[in-house]
Amino acid sequence: MSFFARQMFGQVQRRAFSATARQPSKVAILGAAGGIGQPLSLLMKLNPRVSQLALYDIKLGPGVAADISHINTNSTVKGYDPTPSGLKECLKGSEIILIPAGVPRKPGMTRDDLFNTNATIVRDLAKAAAQAAPEAKLLIISNPVNSTVPICAEVYKNAGVYNPKTLFGVTTLDVVRASRFVSEVKGTDPANENITVVGGHSGITIVPLISQSGHSDITGEKLDALVNRIQFGGDEVVKAKDGAGSATLSMAMAGARFAESLLKASQGEKGVVECTFVDSPLYKDQGVEFFASKVELGPDGVQKIHEVGKLSKQEEQMLEACLGDLKKNIQKGIDFVKANP
Ligand code: NAD
Ligand code: LMR
Repeated sequence: MSFFARQMFGQVQRRAFSATARQPSKVAILGAAGGIGQPLSLLMKLNPRVSQLALYDIKLGPGVAADISHINTNSTVKGYDPTPSGLKECLKGSEIILIPAGVPRKPGMTRDDLFNTNATIVRDLAKAAAQAAPEAKLLIISNPVNSTVPICAEVYKNAGVYNPKTLFGVTTLDVVRASRFVSEVKGTDPANENITVVGGHSGITIVPLISQSGHSDITGEKLDALVNRIQFGGDEVVKAKDGAGSATLSMAMAGARFAESLLKASQGEKGVVECTFVDSPLYKDQGVEFFASKVELGPDGVQKIHEVGKLSKQEEQMLEACLGDLKKNIQKGIDFVKANP
């Protein structure tokens, strides 16, 4: 075994050992056999905070589970049949439900072009979750996130179990990209960059706040190019994959990071903060019901929603443009469930 492999497996085993003292945490992944689902399942299997991993997909859930279950960490892994009872069993007792189920973009498409297919998929999975595990934290990855999160809220409201503190649109990939892209401009270590990204998860609704990052020396065309790359980073991957889908590996890392933050918070760690798209009071007076900003996470989910803070003139303009689009995307999700309950 190489030095690197020894280090890695040793670390996994040590982390797995220390996990035995923690409270049990069941994590369910719906869409577990997909481009995101498989590496996300792998990363959650390596996470010592997870005690049970429940994998569901309309195809190959048990196969992916059998494969991952051989990894020598403490958690148990089970795959479920694509039936209503399989889905219900998968969800029952979950603390966290991650949903990356749905179709990805092809070149030339916007995330909104996925609405017609993914709205129904997410609605139906949310219905099952509202029934089987209404108290679980629900993490939505499926696009268009600006609309699929409101869809879930409406489904939970219809079921009489809506808790705004436990519903999250996963926008972590925007933060991950922002940190990486800033580090490329500045020649810094991306691990030390933590860029706040607010708004939503699509094009101009993605608003990176570079002015708050300590890099006010990035200005002019350099700043414009950086902001544009963060807003349209998803398109960069869609184009490079040339019809074979969108970001999967970086998204799996981002989803695993966000789930890990929620687990840390629920297992007692204080001061855990992530940017995420939640039911937010910040711009409700302008008709925008959901908004991504820095959110402090606690044992019950959302603990404190941070204000966006001081913005540059350019960021104020970006935020205004974001709010206009976001409002429409959110309304589209709400209207969908009203018309198709
Ligand atoms: P994929 O096609 O590779 O995988 C999707 C999986 O969902 C497939 O295995 C499919 O069988 C499964 N699925 C479909 N309908 C289902 C259902 N009703 N129940 C359970 N499983 C079902 O796609 P992908 O690349 O993994 O992307 C998934 C979604 O994530 C897309 O909508 C994509 O746009 C989105 N995405 C979001 C972000 C983000 O930042 N939030 C990033 C990347 C991708
Ligand atoms: C991303 O940001 O990579 C995802 O939302 C997938 C996409 O369609 O771009």
